[in-house]
Amino acid sequence: MPEPGTPLRILVLHGPNLNLLGSREPGVYGNSPLEQIDGQLVERARLLGVVVTGSFQSNSESELVDRLHACRGLVDGVVFNPAAFTHTSVSLRDALTATSIPFVEVHLSNVHARESFRRKSFFSDIAVGVVTGFGADSYLLGLEGLVRHLRGAGRGAG
Ligand code: DQA
Repeated sequence: MPEPGTPLRILVLHGPNLNLLGSREPGVYGNSPLEQIDGQLVERARLLGVVVTGSFQSNSESELVDRLHACRGLVDGVVFNPAAFTHTSVSLRDALTATSIPFVEVHLSNVHARESFRRKSFFSDIAVGVVTGFGADSYLLGLEGLVRHLRGAGRGAG
């Protein structure tokens, strides 16, 4: 929890294959490259009076787990698109419960309108909330919801 009056600190995490956004299946995931989404999040955070302390993409489950461990006590919430790990990763779920960091689960596509295996998430039941299907806006909506939640939970005035 930050000192009173200091802005909430938000980490953005992106899972596998999201480094290819922009060229990856644009009909499903849109045309925005990851750097553009990250830039929009920084700007939206500024408007909300919070700070994005970092943005990290990895195709490696262990790197994402390590990143969550490393940010313990240093961030107030995480905007997380676990990508394919959404449907497979007990270790990332356990990292989130072990660190107790509030997070919002976001997806560009509507995972419920696709293959049945995408309907299973290892994160939704422990997330603050889930935003799915709004393209790059899912991240921005997720950030707004997370900030509202953190402020409502009294985790800092920022
Ligand atoms: C995704 C949905 C996942 O099912 C998929 O594996 C992804 C991206 C999304 O943002 O729509 O890689 O998380």
